[in-house]
Amino acid sequence: MKGVMIVGISEQVLPIDLYQRLGEQYGTPLYVYDMAVIEQRVADLRQCLHPNVRLFYSMKANPNPSVVRAIYRHGVYSEICSPLELEIALSAGIVPAHILYLGPGKSAAELERLVALGVRYLIVESIQEIALVQKIAGKRGMVAEVGLRINPRETVRGARLKMGGAARQFGIDEDQLPEVLAAARAMSCVRVVGLHGYLGTRILQADTIAANVRCMLEAADRLLAGGLSELRYVGVGGGFGIPYHSGESRLDLEAVALRTRPLFDSFLRRYPDVEVLAESGRFLVAEAGSYLVRVRYTKRSQGVEFAIADGGVHQFAAAGGAGSLVKRNYPIEALVCGRGEQRMYHISGPLCSPDDLIGRGVELPVLQPGDLLAVRQAGAYGLTFSPVLFLSHPLPREVMLANGQAVLVRDIDEYGLPAVREL
Ligand SMILES: Cc1ncc(COP(=O)(O)O)c(C=O)c1O
Repeated sequence: MKGVMIVGISEQVLPIDLYQRLGEQYGTPLYVYDMAVIEQRVADLRQCLHPNVRLFYSMKANPNPSVVRAIYRHGVYSEICSPLELEIALSAGIVPAHILYLGPGKSAAELERLVALGVRYLIVESIQEIALVQKIAGKRGMVAEVGLRINPRETVRGARLKMGGAARQFGIDEDQLPEVLAAARAMSCVRVVGLHGYLGTRILQADTIAANVRCMLEAADRLLAGGLSELRYVGVGGGFGIPYHSGESRLDLEAVALRTRPLFDSFLRRYPDVEVLAESGRFLVAEAGSYLVRVRYTKRSQGVEFAIADGGVHQFAAAGGAGSLVKRNYPIEALVCGRGEQRMYHISGPLCSPDDLIGRGVELPVLQPGDLLAVRQAGAYGLTFSPVLFLSHPLPREVMLANGQAVLVRDIDEYGLPAVREL
């Protein structure tokens, strides 16, 4: 039998009865989120970060409006990267003063809306973008405040995906900053008041997080020493990872606290009026989510057992390996009782593509048509990172478990701008 055996790494197995009921009631495929887990992760990250660090939720991880609003209600601001994310945030009750907006390719219309709304942390990523903001603000007869996304000189190792410290489309290289700042100073309708950096994501080592923080705070120090006259905020990024695969261990948050607190303390002692920002998507929501699929058929092909399910990579591309160099399984549970014998399965979806595998060589109880499977760690980069239109299968519903109740937080016909629901 081909394939690797995957040992489940989720801390708790799912309550089978509850998830079976949800599968019956809402149909499968189905995304289920657990608000208690999100609340726990918000509290964990808060406790680990310096009390004066302002935390932002990166909506790209899961832009479901009910998720967004629930997190905001815990005092976490929003980090946003697109016009629809902005509309979702506004419909979820997030005020422009609590929005950090970035992205290397914003349109003129997007910038006009951001300037008109007065988005507080408006991050610009090139000299041409600064000039566009100058033009927009000039037309409105106002001065727009912006933060510069910087690409620091240093590279920090240890992130799965590097967004800075190398040749990147994001931000402005640190070496070019003196020139860019001088050009910005000559513009009368734009004022640089912030700095932002984001060096990488999926980080599981405390040392790497601390190195990122140091890198950004030192860059801010250098710029303040080198002529940046005003600084209201500096964003140090985030990249807090979670374990997905066997062999990966949890990020040690106590170690993160121990290594980063002195850095924040020292910076904030010297610059007490500067607000320090951090952002996180995956860490806050990934472990709260499961993607439920139902087995439709089982078959054997050339010695390999397949379970063919009703959901696949069109709705959870990351579970099939998209975005990773090496395809490794997400934790998968069979929500069945009392079956002793185990077998290794490739779990496919309904697509006409051999790549439609959400698990390869997964050891599970012997499966039958009708069995429910749960792909865990599905709360982040699930639907948002998937080619949902591929083959035009029906879209999945999303349900949130909160306060002992299941709330449908996105119905099949609510793609685009879904309504916000009370939890
Ligand atoms: C600028 C920026 N901020 C935040 C994030 C969110 O990262 P994560 O979900 O790993 O916390 C990303 C992810 O790519 C990013 O590029």
